Amino acid sequence: DRRTAQEALERLIVDVPDWPEPGVTFKDITPVLADHHAFSAIITALAAAGKDDHGNVVVDKVVGMEARGFILAAPVALALGVGFVPIRKAGKLPRETHAVTYTLEYGEATLEVHRDGIAPGERVLMIDDVLATGGTVVATRQLIEACGGTATSCSVLLELGFLEPRAVTGDLPIASLLTV
Ligand code: PRP
Repeated sequence: DRRTAQEALERLIVDVPDWPEPGVTFKDITPVLADHHAFSAIITALAAAGKDDHGNVVVDKVVGMEARGFILAAPVALALGVGFVPIRKAGKLPRETHAVTYTLEYGEATLEVHRDGIAPGERVLMIDDVLATGGTVVATRQLIEACGGTATSCSVLLELGFLEPRAVTGDLPIASLLTV
């Protein structure tokens, strides 16, 4: 359940100081993935965002954001019994895409989705490992909407609350298993 997942994250996420640059503390989730019980618990907890109070699945697709989001979103999609769609960095998808470019702290980034990855009217759950500034989630929501879909919810392992991501994510419901 959710509490088991939270305990696993608290126990297993490793803080790496000054990586990838001085002054930044990187949150390494790989030990969580390497522990079968922890991995299983976090997938179940993330998937809860795709169900209503009665346990009914209320989404049609799960999207994951490259690269760490893929590791989590694919098993969440399988757990919910719906399809998985990758949100990729620029130039990786072979067919027609929608693209959104957004501003990072230094520079900019572009994310893409296949135009036919999400059908008009589909309800979509976004899954990623970390919610930091919120830029990735906002861009992904725009991609879902460009396809005609609805971004109904977002679920992440870890929210960096001190970066105030919810100032930019607006009315999107976001479930974070752990906030620091
Ligand atoms: C990280 C993380 C999220 C994003 C969150 O990905 O996995 O996708 O940043 O940051 P934001 O809320 O400020 O947008 P990163 O771009 O490092 O890609 P990676 O998973 O390929 O390493």
